[in-house]
Amino acid sequence: MKIFVINLLKISLGIKNLRKIYSLLSKCVLRDNQIRHFEPSLIYSKEDSTVTPELIDLIAESSKLASKTVLNCGKKNLPDSKYLNIFPGEHYRLINAIAKTINAKNIVEIGTFTGMGTLALKYGLNDVLVTTYDILKWNELPLPSHFNSADFDESLNQIIGDLSDDNFFDNNLDILNNADLIFMDAPKDDSFEYRMAKQFKKLKNKGKRFLILDDILFVNMIDFWRKIKSPKIDATVFGHFTGTGVVDISDGFLYD
Ligand SMILES: C[S@@+](CC[C@H](N)C(=O)[O-])C[C@H]1O[C@@H](n2cnc3c(N)ncnc32)[C@H](O)[C@@H]1O
Repeated sequence: MKIFVINLLKISLGIKNLRKIYSLLSKCVLRDNQIRHFEPSLIYSKEDSTVTPELIDLIAESSKLASKTVLNCGKKNLPDSKYLNIFPGEHYRLINAIAKTINAKNIVEIGTFTGMGTLALKYGLNDVLVTTYDILKWNELPLPSHFNSADFDESLNQIIGDLSDDNFFDNNLDILNNADLIFMDAPKDDSFEYRMAKQFKKLKNKGKRFLILDDILFVNMIDFWRKIKSPKIDATVFGHFTGTGVVDISDGFLYD
């Protein structure tokens, strides 16, 4: 009976509308909703977890390092500057610590925005190249950027384009194949990430390569996260409150 009602609701209202209703109702269920920012999510059982001891070590080491690191990068007076060193709660210190812990030399970020993630990924690292992708150029955003033109040197490059597009991805495959770390923090629009799953399957195996995903607790990201069969760990407790997932894609991106 329950399943019948669920399916009937899904068919008659559609998942997108149900998510809007869920989001609206979720704002009404707390006694105290004086919280700066909260989003609906779901808790779910994890018996199909694919975590490995190596990933647990990586998150344990990176979290310890992140707790002791103060990031001193980007501009101090922009609207989002105040989030840079919130730890845990934001992902900046954790992504920086993961990059350091794995001694990343080639990093790809998908979703540059104001550049805080980009600068956090390279802060304190030597001989690193961060290639950050966006569909908008850093100095053409409607918001102020943390970058100065001088930031773009041999350690930082922005490439404009949509990696979910087959031709664009194939033209950039060498850069992605070289990456030790990929941080994907793009639109989370229930479509892009699924298209990227198809692209990540094209990556060659590499001694060590990790994929960090932002917002894995968003309702529209849970199906995507659950479909990933490569070794993975939910590192939200030390990352972004909206969900930070880390996937070991050294042996390819395994996806259901
Ligand atoms: C949440 S912001 C990124 C935040 C940043 N990584 C950080 O940690 O501060 C998302 C960015 O994804 C970009 N974006 C949207 N669609 C994209 C696409 N198809 N490919 C690459 N970037 C995209 C948006 O323009 C936006 O700048």
